[in-house]
Amino acid sequence: MDMNAAVVDAYGPPEVVRIDRRPRPRATGSDVVVEVAAASVNSGDARIRGARFPAGFGVPARLALGLRGPRRAVLGVALSGRVIEVGPKTTALRIGDRVSGMTDMRMGAHAEYTAVPEQRLARIPDEVSDEDAAAVLFGGTTALWFLRDRARVRPGERVLVIGGAGAVGNHAVQIARSRGAEVTATAGSGNQALLARLGAHHTVDRTAVRLSDLPGPYDVVFDTVGALHPGTAAPLLSPNGRVILAAATLAETITKRARVITGTAGAGRELVGDLIDGIIDGTLTPVIEATLPLDRIAEAHARVDSGHKVGSILVRP
Ligand SMILES: NC(=O)c1ccc[n+]([C@@H]2O[C@H](COP(=O)([O-])OP(=O)(O)OC[C@H]3O[C@@H](n4cnc5c(N)ncnc54)[C@H](OP(=O)(O)O)[C@@H]3O)[C@@H](O)[C@H]2O)c1
Repeated sequence: MDMNAAVVDAYGPPEVVRIDRRPRPRATGSDVVVEVAAASVNSGDARIRGARFPAGFGVPARLALGLRGPRRAVLGVALSGRVIEVGPKTTALRIGDRVSGMTDMRMGAHAEYTAVPEQRLARIPDEVSDEDAAAVLFGGTTALWFLRDRARVRPGERVLVIGGAGAVGNHAVQIARSRGAEVTATAGSGNQALLARLGAHHTVDRTAVRLSDLPGPYDVVFDTVGALHPGTAAPLLSPNGRVILAAATLAETITKRARVITGTAGAGRELVGDLIDGIIDGTLTPVIEATLPLDRIAEAHARVDSGHKVGSILVRP
């Protein structure tokens, strides 16, 4: 049986993404096949589509993903949907379960159906919509992993989020706030009210105030946009301060420095489950800029490329 899928044959601008017919995946081993209800088009997908990687990662990324185009032509890592087929070794999930989660390096979420290892998926309770469950995945797992599991933000700490309106940033603001931190967040002029709604105690218009003029010090600086490097972050930090560089270069990633946190965020089922719990208990409000049909996915890629996406953009197959 065939399905519709968004495919990328060669790296390039948003227009290289096209809808094609592909064989529907089957469930083998402990995989399940999910009928995708909503999937986000995020900065990671756009980086791969455009072969636009942080400095130093270009060659290793092409070796891993494909030289001229992605070997796995169907991109997309964050999805929600319904299980329609289970592999012979599945133990936890059943046909009909509503689930959400992040696929691994095989990607494949920008399609009508995708096969995912069951251990990567969390069940979605009835009160959480498909859109909300998909919207929190990419930015939420990243923010939760960096702030809670790596920087270990504590109540009363001062946290600065640079780029507070993006997918990672809006979750960082909400998660830091819910952990009892005093949150300062930066964004463009049009996103100041959003930052306040998300719970930032102090909002900064990045077009009017330089980072070096901010009244720190901060215990945690979370740079979600690549605005800082360890040298420019240091003057903003308190004596025990840590800086998180979500868009670190290869050199920043492999150079171990005590107060600098880099790396690839976790995306496992526990993180996903914690985000779903956050939606239910009201500490996490999904921010969705737009939901488009799958055949308009090139528009979603173009919006991500603008660098001014607000929260998440979803596609529905
Ligand atoms: N290490 C990891 O595991 C990991 C995981 C996920 C993402 N990332 C990386 O994290 C970064 C952010 O991802 P994302 O998905 O949150 O991106 P996004 O949703 O596209 O958000 C980008 C945000 O950046 C802000 N921005 C644009 N230009 C800026 C500038 N010059 N100075 C300050 N802010 C600016 C924009 O807000 P305004 O329009 O309000 O300025 C926008 O809201 C990407 O580089 C991504 O690759 C890393």
